[in-house]
Amino acid sequence: MTTTRTLADGREIPVLGLGVWQVRDGRECADSVRWALEAGYRHIDTAQAYGNEDSVGRALRDSGVPRDEVYITTKFNPGRKDPVAELDGSLERLGVEFVDLYLVHWPAGGPTRAWDGMQKAQRSGQARSIGVSNFGTGDIDAVLAVADIPPALNQIQFSPFEYRRDLREHCESRNIAVEAYSPLGTGRHLDDKEVAAIAERQGRTPAQILIRWSLQRGLIVLPKSTHQDRIAQNAEVFDFELTGDELAALDALDRTGGTGRALERTWW
Ligand SMILES: NC(=O)c1ccc[n+]([C@@H]2O[C@H](COP(=O)([O-])OP(=O)(O)OC[C@H]3O[C@@H](n4cnc5c(N)ncnc54)[C@H](OP(=O)(O)O)[C@@H]3O)[C@@H](O)[C@H]2O)c1
Repeated sequence: MTTTRTLADGREIPVLGLGVWQVRDGRECADSVRWALEAGYRHIDTAQAYGNEDSVGRALRDSGVPRDEVYITTKFNPGRKDPVAELDGSLERLGVEFVDLYLVHWPAGGPTRAWDGMQKAQRSGQARSIGVSNFGTGDIDAVLAVADIPPALNQIQFSPFEYRRDLREHCESRNIAVEAYSPLGTGRHLDDKEVAAIAERQGRTPAQILIRWSLQRGLIVLPKSTHQDRIAQNAEVFDFELTGDELAALDALDRTGGTGRALERTWW
């Protein structure tokens, strides 16, 4: 399996990234990003709402890894007015001239509200690719109906337990890549019996099984950890394969009925 894929806008994205939601700004975040870069990650997923862009930027600079080798995503906080003005702030905090991917974090105020500003951010060169997050099938269609530049990607909650088949198919058939957030269920899915049995059989950890499932289901995947050993472990997912039976057993854990919704309960 290759470790990058090409988005519809022609840009390449590493299929595994470190997520930093709920990672404290300062040492905790800077250490996590540093350990990830040392372990070979070349993709970091942050957001304006996470409050830790400063630490992501510092860790990136301190690592000595060239900027153009690391894929950085941030997300527009849609509680704010202007995606372009908010991106200026992100770039300053991150200490970079552009982000690789800029997402509307959730469809606040309606799915199309921020899109004009997002397109401006891409045209200015300050965001190489633009996309959305937490958008369901109807939200995706609403954006496509007004877009000059279509979203390249939709970042959604996705795991065997939230196997949003309809939403994935809807996005893929419109050339929108799907990125899995909370691939470990924010830790909740790691104790599941079925996942543990497959892990045992494969000689892997439950986290590796869940991350590998996302990859084999065609997604880009964003596990989070603040522990050096787990960060390294979560990247060791390119040297084994789940069998057809194992994939089917994991698929059967879905509790969403294969929904086209982005979430069962929304916070906006
Ligand atoms: N767009 C959105 O609205 C949105 C929403 C949620 C998440 N996200 C993105 O997706 C990323 C990941 O989702 P998430 O933060 O919900 O969590 P997750 O990756 O599903 O799970 C993280 C949890 O699992 C634990 N963990 C990680 N690797 C482990 C391992 N190998 N063994 C045992 N435990 C392990 C972590 O603990 P430790 O940290 O203590 O190791 C943490 O408690 C976020 O950080 C963020 O970038 C986006």
